[in-house]
Amino acid sequence: MTTGRNNAKSALMTDNLTTIRDFLRYAVSRFNQAELVYGHGTTTSFDEAAFIVLEGLHLPVDSLEPYLDAKLTRVECKRMAELIEARVTTRKPAAYLLNKAYIQGLPFYVDERVIVPRSFIAEILCDDNAYSPVDGMEDSIESVLDLCTGSGCLAILAATLFPEAQVDAVDLSADALEVAKRNVKDHGFEDRITLYQGDLFAPLEGKKYDLIITNPPYVDAKAMAELPAEYKHEPAMALGSGTDGMDIVRQILKDAPKYLNPGGGIICEIGQGRDVIMEDFPDKDFIWLDTVESVGEVFWLSHDE
Ligand SMILES: C[S@@+](CC[C@H](N)C(=O)[O-])C[C@H]1O[C@@H](n2cnc3c(N)ncnc32)[C@H](O)[C@@H]1O
Repeated sequence: MTTGRNNAKSALMTDNLTTIRDFLRYAVSRFNQAELVYGHGTTTSFDEAAFIVLEGLHLPVDSLEPYLDAKLTRVECKRMAELIEARVTTRKPAAYLLNKAYIQGLPFYVDERVIVPRSFIAEILCDDNAYSPVDGMEDSIESVLDLCTGSGCLAILAATLFPEAQVDAVDLSADALEVAKRNVKDHGFEDRITLYQGDLFAPLEGKKYDLIITNPPYVDAKAMAELPAEYKHEPAMALGSGTDGMDIVRQILKDAPKYLNPGGGIICEIGQGRDVIMEDFPDKDFIWLDTVESVGEVFWLSHDE
């Protein structure tokens, strides 16, 4: 009943909107008024609105300008109005409403079984402007492990970047692995990416890798208790990891040497846990890999360390 009334109200409010520019302007106003929270692939109301409008109309998400004055059909107007309204009333990140997220320009299917891909590791691996400890090793890396794979996005980026590599990808969540399976198939990597269900390294006894990449859960208990509504749509097990957020990172650091080839190393994202981890592992020579939007949130450790 309430939904019906809301739909009728939003239809009235959007009756006069006809162009992409109209819907973009309206969405930005609605999002600002509703004080939405971003961080799932976009950082501002404008970018979120542009993503919803372009992806919702099956247009290239990086090409707004040529379409701004294009008129929408009546069906498209209805869809736009519904998407904008859903973003405000449900507080779901746009990626969930559209079942699509992009990272480093690659598209991934997403739904609420996985977090929306946004790992800084993608930029470190793929962006020429970011420093990567494996730069220049694209053809020599033969085995990669993506621990805590979620949607499979980092495993797929790794398979793309390292053409000679076999990639193993692990997640504890059977639901997340269903999503990863779909993405692996969509990207044509069924012969090079193997998915495992299990607790961190448990399914990989005896295996060794040239490179481990991992974006594990690392949100501390206080931040988990204060999550904005948008983040509550993501699986809690993908975010939280004990009181200081570092439970899983500690376990990974403890076990990783056993699973690395000599000369190999691990790239691990840890959010705000740098001081805690450096205190817990004082003898390790962490190399911190910064990106455009992060400082000290991702480290590199070589096998010898
Ligand atoms: C922060 S998400 C990262 C997902 C993906 N790699 C990305 O960057 O978008 C963390 C993932 O770790 C998984 N996870 C949580 N605890 C785990 C464990 N003990 N062993 C393996 N995976 C785990 C969650 O299910 C979730 O998919």
